[in-house]
Amino acid sequence: MLTVQHLRKSYGGVQALKDLSFSAAPGQTIGLLGPNGSGKSTTINMLTGLIRPTAGTVSWRGIDIHAQLSGYQATLGYVPEEPRLYAYLTAPEYLRLVGGLRDIDDGVLERRIDRYLELFGLDSDRYAPLSSFSKGMRQKVLISAALLHDPAVVVFDEPCSGLDVASTLMLRSVVRALAEAGKVIVYSSHVLDMVEKVCSDVIILHHGTVVAQDSVSRLRELAQAASLEAVFAQLAVDDNVEATGRAIAAVGTSC
Ligand SMILES: Nc1ncnc2c1ncn2[C@@H]1O[C@H](COP(=O)(O)OP(=O)(O)O)[C@@H](O)[C@H]1O
Ligand SMILES: [Mg+2]
Repeated sequence: MLTVQHLRKSYGGVQALKDLSFSAAPGQTIGLLGPNGSGKSTTINMLTGLIRPTAGTVSWRGIDIHAQLSGYQATLGYVPEEPRLYAYLTAPEYLRLVGGLRDIDDGVLERRIDRYLELFGLDSDRYAPLSSFSKGMRQKVLISAALLHDPAVVVFDEPCSGLDVASTLMLRSVVRALAEAGKVIVYSSHVLDMVEKVCSDVIILHHGTVVAQDSVSRLRELAQAASLEAVFAQLAVDDNVEATGRAIAAVGTSC
């Protein structure tokens, strides 16, 4: 169980996260949904132990993560928002580096690397430097790197940015399958549709405040609530993309 109690983070005068509590059991996928600047990455960075909270705790199996940081991070897979990689390495070289840090047996590591490259359609790019990869391709390498050691907790920070439609759909099934396999998953996104499709529970953040916390089956109802109208107006809703696209294309003739 991953347990978060009264988590807060301030950067000087900016309160990036005001008071967040939740717990997540194996098989649960917690969606952190909110517009840009709402505190999602700040929360994710505290869940990974990369930054310390101003107040409150993150516990894994009942113990504060900062009291067991290397052990906790060994069970953690993290897909960061920015796909920063060593530009001069190839994808297999990068994954070998990560696998080595994770202490994965060489034979097992090579098999896993081959399998991820094949499944993500990166096999033909295995000799190319990561500097030549698109953002989406880099994201796939980062997702592979995060899963390489079969982590118990997987944290995704807006993993879809840069992914094309087919890869987004694939990621969706990856997240679902990870949940079925009993992982604890935290998934941050500013896209309502994605959270609705992959998460069991949703926490909606706005200016660092939790404005709603519920099961994802109630998400559509929450979207109708007058008190949350302003928040939902700032979220990307895939369902509307086509209509909005048509409207934009028609502005020149309709207005
Ligand atoms: N390292 C930092 N120093 C100062 N302010 C920060 C820092 N990181 C985030 N913030 C501020 O905290 C707020 C939440 O940011 P963030 O967690 O990145 O939001 P999100 O990931 O939802 O877009 C924003 O106002 C942002 O400017
Ligand atoms: Mg962010």
